[in-house]
Amino acid sequence: MSKVNFSSRIGLIAVTVGSAVGLGNIWRFPAETQANGGGAFILIYVMCMLVLGIPVMLAEFSLGRGTQSDAESAFKKLKPKSKWNVVGILAIIASYMILSFYAVVAGWTFEYLVQSITGNLFSGIDSIDRMDATFHHKMEEFICSDISPLISTYVILALNFFILLAGVQKGIERMSNWMMPILFILLLIFAGVSLSLPDSIQGIEYFFKPDFSKITPHIIVNALGQSFFSLSLGMGILITYSAYYPKKTKLVNTAFTVSLLDLLMAVLMGIIIFPAVMSFGLEGSQLRGTTLVFVTLPEIFAQMPASQLWAVLFFLLLLIAALTSTISIAEVTVAWLQNSFRQSRLKACVFVILPLFLLSALCSLSFGSLGFIKIAGLNIFNLLDTVATNILLPTVALLTCIFIGWSVKTDFLKNQITNNGKVSQRIYPVISFIIRFIAPILLLLVLISAFFEL
Ligand code: PFF
Repeated sequence: MSKVNFSSRIGLIAVTVGSAVGLGNIWRFPAETQANGGGAFILIYVMCMLVLGIPVMLAEFSLGRGTQSDAESAFKKLKPKSKWNVVGILAIIASYMILSFYAVVAGWTFEYLVQSITGNLFSGIDSIDRMDATFHHKMEEFICSDISPLISTYVILALNFFILLAGVQKGIERMSNWMMPILFILLLIFAGVSLSLPDSIQGIEYFFKPDFSKITPHIIVNALGQSFFSLSLGMGILITYSAYYPKKTKLVNTAFTVSLLDLLMAVLMGIIIFPAVMSFGLEGSQLRGTTLVFVTLPEIFAQMPASQLWAVLFFLLLLIAALTSTISIAEVTVAWLQNSFRQSRLKACVFVILPLFLLSALCSLSFGSLGFIKIAGLNIFNLLDTVATNILLPTVALLTCIFIGWSVKTDFLKNQITNNGKVSQRIYPVISFIIRFIAPILLLLVLISAFFEL
Protein backbone atom coordinates (compact mmCIF):
# COMPACT_ATOMS: atom_id res chain seq x y z
CA MET A 1 0.00 0.00 0.00
CA SER A 2 0.27 3.09 0.91
CA LYS A 3 1.56 5.79 -1.23
CA VAL A 4 -1.00 7.91 0.64
CA ASN A 5 0.28 10.01 3.51
CA PHE A 6 -1.36 12.42 5.88
CA SER A 7 -0.59 15.83 4.47
CA SER A 8 0.48 17.69 7.60
CA ARG A 9 1.78 17.09 11.09
CA ILE A 10 -1.28 18.78 12.59
CA GLY A 11 -3.53 16.54 10.50
CA LEU A 12 -1.72 13.42 11.63
CA ILE A 13 -2.04 14.40 15.27
CA ALA A 14 -5.70 15.37 14.85
CA VAL A 15 -6.49 12.04 13.23
CA THR A 16 -4.69 9.97 15.87
CA VAL A 17 -6.08 11.95 18.78
CA GLY A 18 -9.49 11.69 17.12
CA SER A 19 -9.26 7.94 17.43
CA ALA A 20 -8.04 8.04 21.00
CA VAL A 21 -10.56 10.52 22.35
CA GLY A 22 -13.83 8.66 22.49
CA LEU A 23 -16.45 7.57 24.93
CA GLY A 24 -13.69 6.03 27.04
CA ASN A 25 -12.52 9.52 27.94
CA ILE A 26 -15.95 10.98 28.39
CA TRP A 27 -17.91 8.48 30.33
CA ARG A 28 -15.34 6.17 31.86
CA PHE A 29 -12.30 8.12 32.91
CA PRO A 30 -13.89 10.77 35.18
CA ALA A 31 -15.99 8.32 37.18
CA GLU A 32 -13.17 5.80 37.39
CA THR A 33 -10.85 8.52 38.68
CA GLN A 34 -13.25 9.84 41.27
CA ALA A 35 -14.20 6.42 42.60
CA ASN A 36 -10.64 5.14 42.76
CA GLY A 37 -8.67 7.76 44.63
CA GLY A 38 -8.90 10.97 42.54
CA GLY A 39 -5.45 12.49 42.09
CA ALA A 40 -3.87 9.23 43.24
CA PHE A 41 -5.61 7.39 40.40
CA ILE A 42 -4.48 10.03 37.89
CA LEU A 43 -0.92 9.50 39.07
CA ILE A 44 -1.23 5.74 38.61
CA TYR A 45 -2.88 6.30 35.25
CA VAL A 46 0.00 8.50 34.07
CA MET A 47 2.42 5.80 35.17
CA CYS A 48 0.46 3.19 33.23
CA MET A 49 0.58 5.46 30.22
CA LEU A 50 4.33 5.78 30.52
CA VAL A 51 5.17 2.13 31.20
CA LEU A 52 2.54 0.51 29.01
CA GLY A 53 0.53 2.86 26.79
CA ILE A 54 3.27 4.86 25.11
CA PRO A 55 5.68 1.92 24.52
CA VAL A 56 2.92 -0.29 23.06
CA MET A 57 1.83 2.66 20.95
CA LEU A 58 5.39 2.95 19.68
CA ALA A 59 5.47 -0.76 18.85
CA GLU A 60 2.32 -0.29 16.75
CA PHE A 61 3.60 2.93 15.15
CA SER A 62 6.85 1.20 14.18
CA LEU A 63 4.99 -1.69 12.64
CA GLY A 64 2.73 0.57 10.59
CA ARG A 65 5.18 3.27 9.55
CA GLY A 66 8.00 0.77 9.01
CA THR A 67 6.02 -1.47 6.69
CA GLN A 68 3.56 1.07 5.23
CA SER A 69 1.01 -1.71 5.41
CA ASP A 70 -2.33 -2.66 6.87
CA ALA A 71 -2.69 -4.48 10.18
CA GLU A 72 -2.20 -7.96 8.74
CA SER A 73 0.39 -7.29 6.01
CA ALA A 74 2.58 -5.42 8.48
CA PHE A 75 3.29 -8.73 10.21
CA LYS A 76 3.56 -10.60 6.92
CA LYS A 77 6.06 -8.17 5.45
CA LEU A 78 8.40 -8.47 8.39
CA LYS A 79 8.07 -12.26 8.74
CA PRO A 80 6.84 -13.76 5.51
CA LYS A 81 6.13 -17.50 5.73
CA SER A 82 5.35 -17.33 9.44
CA LYS A 83 2.06 -17.41 11.26
CA TRP A 84 2.53 -13.96 12.80
CA ASN A 85 -0.03 -12.47 10.43
CA VAL A 86 -2.66 -14.19 12.61
CA VAL A 87 -2.06 -11.43 15.17
CA GLY A 88 -3.04 -8.89 12.53
CA ILE A 89 -6.14 -10.88 11.68
CA LEU A 90 -7.09 -11.00 15.35
CA ALA A 91 -6.73 -7.22 15.50
CA ILE A 92 -8.97 -6.85 12.47
CA ILE A 93 -11.59 -9.17 13.99
CA ALA A 94 -11.46 -7.29 17.30
CA SER A 95 -11.76 -3.93 15.58
CA TYR A 96 -14.74 -5.06 13.53
CA MET A 97 -16.50 -6.42 16.61
CA ILE A 98 -15.92 -3.15 18.44
CA LEU A 99 -17.12 -1.14 15.47
CA SER A 100 -20.36 -3.11 15.33
CA PHE A 101 -21.44 -2.11 18.84
CA TYR A 102 -19.72 1.27 19.03
CA ALA A 103 -21.72 2.40 15.98
CA VAL A 104 -24.87 1.76 18.03
CA VAL A 105 -23.69 3.96 20.89
CA ALA A 106 -22.59 6.62 18.40
CA GLY A 107 -26.15 6.36 17.07
CA TRP A 108 -27.56 7.10 20.52
CA THR A 109 -25.50 10.30 20.68
CA PHE A 110 -26.84 11.28 17.28
CA GLU A 111 -30.43 10.72 18.39
CA TYR A 112 -29.87 12.83 21.51
CA LEU A 113 -28.39 15.59 19.37
CA VAL A 114 -31.50 15.56 17.21
CA GLN A 115 -33.74 15.49 20.29
CA SER A 116 -31.87 18.47 21.69
CA ILE A 117 -32.15 20.43 18.47
CA THR A 118 -35.90 19.80 18.19
CA GLY A 119 -36.38 20.50 21.90
CA ASN A 120 -38.02 17.09 22.47
CA LEU A 121 -35.38 16.17 25.01
CA PHE A 122 -36.86 18.62 27.50
CA SER A 123 -40.52 18.07 26.68
CA GLY A 124 -42.65 16.67 29.50
CA ILE A 125 -40.25 17.83 32.23
CA ASP A 126 -42.60 19.30 34.82
CA SER A 127 -40.92 19.34 38.20
CA ILE A 128 -37.33 19.13 39.34
CA ASP A 129 -38.15 16.26 41.69
CA ARG A 130 -39.36 14.00 38.93
CA MET A 131 -36.70 14.97 36.42
CA ASP A 132 -34.39 12.07 37.19
CA ALA A 133 -37.16 9.56 36.67
CA THR A 134 -38.32 11.27 33.48
CA PHE A 135 -34.89 11.31 31.84
CA HIS A 136 -34.33 7.71 32.92
CA HIS A 137 -37.60 6.73 31.40
CA LYS A 138 -36.82 8.59 28.16
CA MET A 139 -33.45 6.89 27.88
CA GLU A 140 -34.78 3.42 28.51
CA GLU A 141 -37.71 3.90 26.22
CA PHE A 142 -35.36 4.97 23.45
CA ILE A 143 -32.55 2.42 23.88
CA CYS A 144 -34.92 -0.49 24.38
CA SER A 145 -37.10 0.31 21.42
CA ASP A 146 -36.42 -1.34 18.08
CA ILE A 147 -36.78 1.22 15.35
CA SER A 148 -35.39 4.61 16.46
CA PRO A 149 -31.98 3.40 17.67
CA LEU A 150 -31.68 1.36 14.50
CA ILE A 151 -32.28 4.40 12.31
CA SER A 152 -29.69 6.39 14.27
CA THR A 153 -27.17 3.57 13.93
CA TYR A 154 -27.75 3.54 10.19
CA VAL A 155 -27.14 7.28 10.02
CA ILE A 156 -23.78 6.73 11.70
CA LEU A 157 -22.92 3.91 9.33
CA ALA A 158 -23.81 6.10 6.35
CA LEU A 159 -21.70 8.98 7.70
CA ASN A 160 -18.81 6.56 8.16
CA PHE A 161 -19.25 5.31 4.63
CA PHE A 162 -19.05 8.73 3.01
CA ILE A 163 -16.14 9.97 5.09
CA LEU A 164 -14.17 6.78 4.48
CA LEU A 165 -14.99 6.84 0.78
CA ALA A 166 -13.65 10.37 0.46
CA GLY A 167 -10.26 8.90 1.29
CA VAL A 168 -7.47 9.20 3.81
CA GLN A 169 -6.57 12.84 3.12
CA LYS A 170 -9.81 14.26 1.81
CA GLY A 171 -12.07 12.27 4.13
CA ILE A 172 -10.43 11.21 7.37
CA GLU A 173 -7.79 13.92 7.67
CA ARG A 174 -9.97 16.79 6.55
CA MET A 175 -12.78 15.71 8.90
CA SER A 176 -10.40 15.45 11.86
CA ASN A 177 -8.82 18.82 11.10
CA TRP A 178 -12.25 20.32 11.49
CA MET A 179 -13.70 18.25 14.22
CA MET A 180 -10.88 17.96 16.73
CA PRO A 181 -10.47 21.72 17.27
CA ILE A 182 -14.24 22.01 17.64
CA LEU A 183 -14.24 19.18 20.18
CA PHE A 184 -11.45 20.82 22.15
CA ILE A 185 -13.11 24.25 22.12
CA LEU A 186 -16.41 22.71 23.25
CA LEU A 187 -14.63 20.98 26.13
CA LEU A 188 -13.03 24.27 27.13
CA ILE A 189 -16.35 26.12 26.99
CA PHE A 190 -18.05 23.50 29.14
CA ALA A 191 -15.15 23.47 31.60
CA GLY A 192 -15.36 27.27 31.84
CA VAL A 193 -19.11 27.17 32.49
CA SER A 194 -18.79 24.40 35.03
CA LEU A 195 -16.00 26.15 36.90
CA SER A 196 -18.07 29.31 37.14
CA LEU A 197 -20.87 27.50 38.98
CA PRO A 198 -21.27 28.26 42.72
CA ASP A 199 -19.94 25.01 44.20
CA SER A 200 -17.29 24.32 41.61
CA ILE A 201 -14.40 24.23 44.07
CA GLN A 202 -16.00 21.38 46.03
CA GLY A 203 -16.51 19.54 42.75
CA ILE A 204 -12.88 19.95 41.78
CA GLU A 205 -11.85 18.71 45.19
CA TYR A 206 -14.21 15.76 44.96
CA PHE A 207 -12.65 14.80 41.62
CA PHE A 208 -8.96 15.43 42.27
CA LYS A 209 -8.47 14.91 46.01
CA PRO A 210 -5.87 12.13 46.21
CA ASP A 211 -6.72 9.15 48.37
CA PHE A 212 -3.88 6.67 48.22
CA SER A 213 -5.67 4.19 50.47
CA LYS A 214 -7.95 3.37 47.53
CA ILE A 215 -5.08 2.19 45.34
CA THR A 216 -5.17 -1.61 45.32
CA PRO A 217 -3.66 -4.06 42.82
CA HIS A 218 -7.12 -4.35 41.30
CA ILE A 219 -7.27 -0.59 40.72
CA ILE A 220 -3.85 -0.64 39.10
CA VAL A 221 -4.98 -3.33 36.67
CA ASN A 222 -8.06 -1.17 36.00
CA ALA A 223 -5.87 1.82 35.23
CA LEU A 224 -3.78 -0.33 32.89
CA GLY A 225 -6.91 -1.44 31.06
CA GLN A 226 -8.25 2.10 30.89
CA SER A 227 -5.01 3.55 29.48
CA PHE A 228 -4.95 0.79 26.99
CA PHE A 229 -8.52 1.23 25.72
CA SER A 230 -8.29 4.99 25.78
CA LEU A 231 -5.21 5.06 23.58
CA SER A 232 -6.90 2.73 21.05
CA LEU A 233 -4.23 0.05 21.42
CA GLY A 234 -4.47 -3.53 20.23
CA MET A 235 -7.15 -2.73 17.64
CA GLY A 236 -4.89 -2.37 14.61
CA ILE A 237 -5.87 1.32 14.42
CA LEU A 238 -2.45 2.71 15.19
CA ILE A 239 -0.75 0.29 12.79
CA THR A 240 -3.15 1.34 10.06
CA TYR A 241 -2.93 5.08 10.72
CA SER A 242 0.83 5.17 11.13
CA ALA A 243 1.20 3.55 7.71
CA TYR A 244 0.05 6.97 6.48
CA TYR A 245 2.71 8.81 8.53
CA PRO A 246 5.49 10.33 6.45
CA LYS A 247 9.02 8.95 6.88
CA LYS A 248 10.15 12.03 8.76
CA THR A 249 7.47 11.85 11.49
CA LYS A 250 9.10 11.56 14.90
CA LEU A 251 7.29 8.64 16.45
CA VAL A 252 8.29 9.25 20.07
CA ASN A 253 7.14 12.89 19.98
CA THR A 254 3.92 11.84 18.30
CA ALA A 255 3.19 9.14 20.89
CA PHE A 256 3.74 11.58 23.77
CA THR A 257 1.67 14.31 22.14
CA VAL A 258 -1.24 11.98 21.40
CA SER A 259 -1.21 10.45 24.89
CA LEU A 260 -1.04 13.81 26.63
CA LEU A 261 -3.86 15.30 24.56
CA ASP A 262 -5.94 12.20 25.23
CA LEU A 263 -5.32 12.54 28.97
CA LEU A 264 -5.99 16.28 28.88
CA MET A 265 -9.39 15.75 27.27
CA ALA A 266 -10.28 13.05 29.78
CA VAL A 267 -9.31 15.27 32.71
CA LEU A 268 -11.23 18.20 31.21
CA MET A 269 -14.29 15.99 31.16
CA GLY A 270 -13.87 15.42 34.89
CA ILE A 271 -13.53 19.17 35.39
CA ILE A 272 -16.82 19.55 33.56
CA ILE A 273 -18.76 16.84 35.35
CA PHE A 274 -17.94 17.17 39.04
CA PRO A 275 -18.38 20.90 39.66
CA ALA A 276 -21.70 20.76 37.80
CA VAL A 277 -22.87 17.70 39.67
CA MET A 278 -21.97 19.30 43.03
CA SER A 279 -23.53 22.62 42.20
CA PHE A 280 -26.82 21.01 41.24
CA GLY A 281 -26.80 18.63 44.20
CA LEU A 282 -26.63 15.47 42.10
CA GLU A 283 -23.73 13.73 43.84
CA GLY A 284 -25.75 10.61 44.48
CA SER A 285 -26.42 10.09 40.78
CA GLN A 286 -24.76 7.57 38.54
CA LEU A 287 -21.74 9.34 37.17
CA ARG A 288 -20.64 6.94 34.48
CA GLY A 289 -21.73 5.42 31.22
CA THR A 290 -25.04 6.00 29.58
CA THR A 291 -26.70 7.26 32.76
CA LEU A 292 -24.15 10.05 33.10
CA VAL A 293 -24.55 11.37 29.56
CA PHE A 294 -28.21 10.64 28.90
CA VAL A 295 -29.71 11.28 32.35
CA THR A 296 -27.49 13.20 34.77
CA LEU A 297 -26.10 15.77 32.35
CA PRO A 298 -29.49 16.51 30.74
CA GLU A 299 -30.80 17.08 34.29
CA ILE A 300 -28.08 19.67 34.78
CA PHE A 301 -28.74 21.32 31.43
CA ALA A 302 -32.47 21.49 32.20
CA GLN A 303 -31.70 23.56 35.29
CA MET A 304 -29.41 25.97 33.47
CA PRO A 305 -30.48 28.99 31.47
CA ALA A 306 -30.41 28.21 27.72
CA SER A 307 -30.84 24.48 28.40
CA GLN A 308 -31.35 23.62 24.80
CA LEU A 309 -28.16 25.32 23.65
CA TRP A 310 -26.06 23.42 26.19
CA ALA A 311 -27.67 20.13 25.29
CA VAL A 312 -27.06 20.69 21.57
CA LEU A 313 -23.41 21.61 22.16
CA PHE A 314 -22.83 18.67 24.49
CA PHE A 315 -24.32 16.03 22.23
CA LEU A 316 -22.41 17.53 19.32
CA LEU A 317 -19.24 17.07 21.36
CA LEU A 318 -20.18 13.49 22.11
CA LEU A 319 -21.05 12.75 18.50
CA ILE A 320 -17.72 14.14 17.27
CA ALA A 321 -15.82 12.05 19.82
CA ALA A 322 -17.69 8.90 18.82
CA LEU A 323 -17.56 9.52 15.08
CA THR A 324 -13.80 10.13 14.86
CA SER A 325 -13.33 6.88 16.79
CA THR A 326 -15.62 4.81 14.57
CA ILE A 327 -13.88 6.14 11.45
CA SER A 328 -10.49 5.09 12.79
CA ILE A 329 -11.65 1.62 13.63
CA ALA A 330 -13.44 1.14 10.31
CA GLU A 331 -10.33 2.22 8.41
CA VAL A 332 -8.54 -0.87 9.81
CA THR A 333 -10.66 -3.20 7.69
CA VAL A 334 -10.96 -0.81 4.75
CA ALA A 335 -7.16 -0.57 4.48
CA TRP A 336 -6.85 -4.34 4.85
CA LEU A 337 -9.32 -5.07 2.04
CA GLN A 338 -7.72 -2.46 -0.19
CA ASN A 339 -4.24 -3.70 0.42
CA SER A 340 -4.51 -7.46 0.86
CA PHE A 341 -7.35 -8.10 -1.56
CA ARG A 342 -6.58 -5.33 -4.06
CA GLN A 343 -10.06 -3.86 -3.77
CA SER A 344 -10.89 -0.34 -4.88
CA ARG A 345 -11.60 2.11 -2.05
CA LEU A 346 -15.28 2.07 -3.03
CA LYS A 347 -15.58 -1.71 -2.87
CA ALA A 348 -13.61 -1.86 0.38
CA CYS A 349 -15.94 0.71 1.99
CA VAL A 350 -18.99 -1.18 0.80
CA PHE A 351 -17.66 -4.50 2.12
CA VAL A 352 -16.92 -2.97 5.50
CA ILE A 353 -20.07 -0.95 6.04
CA LEU A 354 -22.73 -3.11 4.41
CA PRO A 355 -22.51 -6.15 6.75
CA LEU A 356 -22.71 -3.74 9.67
CA PHE A 357 -26.25 -2.89 8.70
CA LEU A 358 -26.99 -6.39 9.96
CA LEU A 359 -24.39 -6.84 12.68
CA SER A 360 -24.95 -3.46 14.34
CA ALA A 361 -28.68 -4.04 14.03
CA LEU A 362 -28.27 -7.21 16.09
CA CYS A 363 -26.37 -5.20 18.71
CA SER A 364 -28.99 -2.48 18.73
CA LEU A 365 -31.88 -4.93 18.93
CA SER A 366 -30.21 -6.80 21.77
CA PHE A 367 -31.64 -4.09 24.04
CA GLY A 368 -35.06 -4.55 22.43
CA SER A 369 -36.70 -7.51 20.75
CA LEU A 370 -33.57 -9.65 20.71
CA GLY A 371 -32.91 -9.17 24.42
CA PHE A 372 -33.83 -12.80 25.03
CA ILE A 373 -30.67 -13.99 23.23
CA LYS A 374 -28.12 -14.44 25.96
CA ILE A 375 -24.75 -16.13 25.77
CA ALA A 376 -22.89 -16.63 29.06
CA GLY A 377 -25.49 -14.32 30.59
CA LEU A 378 -24.65 -11.48 28.18
CA ASN A 379 -26.73 -10.00 25.38
CA ILE A 380 -25.15 -9.73 21.91
CA PHE A 381 -23.93 -6.17 22.47
CA ASN A 382 -22.27 -6.90 25.80
CA LEU A 383 -20.86 -10.19 24.58
CA LEU A 384 -19.05 -8.53 21.67
CA ASP A 385 -17.85 -5.77 23.99
CA THR A 386 -16.53 -8.17 26.64
CA VAL A 387 -14.78 -10.56 24.28
CA ALA A 388 -13.20 -7.84 22.13
CA THR A 389 -12.25 -5.34 24.80
CA ASN A 390 -11.21 -7.59 27.64
CA ILE A 391 -9.70 -10.50 25.77
CA LEU A 392 -8.80 -9.77 22.16
CA LEU A 393 -7.23 -6.33 22.67
CA PRO A 394 -4.76 -7.32 25.38
CA THR A 395 -3.96 -10.52 23.47
CA VAL A 396 -3.16 -8.60 20.28
CA ALA A 397 -1.06 -6.07 22.16
CA LEU A 398 0.80 -8.81 24.03
CA LEU A 399 1.64 -10.66 20.82
CA THR A 400 2.59 -7.41 19.09
CA CYS A 401 5.11 -6.66 21.83
CA ILE A 402 6.56 -10.17 21.59
CA PHE A 403 6.75 -9.82 17.82
CA ILE A 404 8.49 -6.45 17.84
CA GLY A 405 10.60 -7.19 20.92
CA TRP A 406 11.72 -10.73 20.18
CA SER A 407 10.86 -11.91 16.71
CA VAL A 408 11.92 -9.17 14.29
CA LYS A 409 15.50 -7.88 14.09
CA THR A 410 16.30 -5.44 16.91
CA ASP A 411 17.34 -2.87 14.32
CA PHE A 412 13.78 -2.54 13.14
CA LEU A 413 12.42 -0.85 16.26
CA LYS A 414 15.56 1.23 16.65
CA ASN A 415 15.43 2.47 13.06
CA GLN A 416 11.80 3.45 13.42
CA ILE A 417 12.21 5.21 16.74
CA THR A 418 15.30 7.09 15.62
CA ASN A 419 14.22 7.63 11.98
CA ASN A 420 17.25 5.62 10.88
CA GLY A 421 19.57 7.39 13.26
CA LYS A 422 18.43 10.90 12.37
CA VAL A 423 16.81 11.71 15.73
CA SER A 424 17.97 11.21 19.30
CA GLN A 425 18.48 7.60 20.40
CA ARG A 426 18.56 8.16 24.13
CA ILE A 427 15.08 6.89 24.83
CA TYR A 428 15.38 3.84 22.60
CA PRO A 429 16.90 1.42 25.17
CA VAL A 430 14.12 2.23 27.65
CA ILE A 431 11.38 1.70 25.09
CA SER A 432 12.96 -1.51 23.87
CA PHE A 433 13.32 -2.85 27.42
CA ILE A 434 9.69 -2.09 28.20
CA ILE A 435 8.41 -3.66 24.98
CA ARG A 436 10.45 -6.81 25.56
CA PHE A 437 10.00 -7.36 29.29
CA ILE A 438 7.66 -5.04 31.15
CA ALA A 439 4.75 -4.63 28.74
CA PRO A 440 4.27 -8.38 28.16
CA ILE A 441 4.12 -9.01 31.91
CA LEU A 442 1.63 -6.18 32.47
CA LEU A 443 -0.52 -7.29 29.56
CA LEU A 444 -0.53 -10.81 30.86
CA LEU A 445 -1.79 -9.46 34.19
CA VAL A 446 -4.58 -7.54 32.42
CA LEU A 447 -5.54 -10.72 30.55
CA ILE A 448 -5.52 -12.92 33.63
CA SER A 449 -7.65 -10.47 35.55
CA ALA A 450 -10.09 -10.33 32.60
CA PHE A 451 -10.49 -14.09 32.78
CA PHE A 452 -11.21 -13.93 36.49
CA GLU A 453 -13.86 -11.29 35.95
CA LEU A 454 -15.64 -13.21 33.21
N1 PFF B 1 -9.98 5.35 22.46
C1 PFF B 1 -11.34 5.06 22.19
C2 PFF B 1 -12.19 5.50 23.36
O1 PFF B 1 -11.62 5.89 24.39
O2 PFF B 1 -13.41 5.51 23.28
C3 PFF B 1 -11.42 3.60 21.99
C4 PFF B 1 -12.12 3.26 20.75
C5 PFF B 1 -13.31 2.65 20.83
C6 PFF B 1 -11.60 3.58 19.52
C7 PFF B 1 -14.01 2.38 19.72
C8 PFF B 1 -12.31 3.32 18.39
C9 PFF B 1 -13.52 2.73 18.52
F1 PFF B 1 -14.25 2.52 17.46
